Amino acid sequence: MKVSFHLNGNFVEADVLPGQTLMEYLRSQWLYSVKHGCDHGECGACTVLIDGKTQNACLIMMHTVKNRTVETLEGLGSQETVQKIQRDFLEEGAIQCGYCTPGMILSAVTLLNENPTPSEDEIRDALTGNLCRCTGYVKPVKAISK
Ligand code: FES
Ligand code: FES
Repeated sequence: MKVSFHLNGNFVEADVLPGQTLMEYLRSQWLYSVKHGCDHGECGACTVLIDGKTQNACLIMMHTVKNRTVETLEGLGSQETVQKIQRDFLEEGAIQCGYCTPGMILSAVTLLNENPTPSEDEIRDALTGNLCRCTGYVKPVKAISK
């Protein structure tokens, strides 16, 4: 089955398998910022943006992204074009093992697009879908506050 959509600014026509999830497809395209965590929509490790909103890619069937816009952390910035939010995470030391970090940053992007000056409570609220097994929540909140 072919599914056409926009991925990180490029039009793609994906050859997908029946029942394939967006997480499986993105990882098959070497987009490894999309992490395979719980596979049940609970940890946020597979967070992506669909039409600008955070979604758990493990719960999204590929056929449903037809004509939509999907962004992963790779589309946000690279080592050459680091975005401010990525720099803030680095400068605040808001990364331990890094498994949850792409999802946290994309949740932060959605929040800051809607509310450029969020309170600490609003930041914590925005991160509720992103579990960190290293229990590093204080520094990400500080990074997003910047
Ligand atoms: S792997 Fe998708 S929410 Fe955990
Ligand atoms: S930094 Fe390790 S899971 Fe969050």
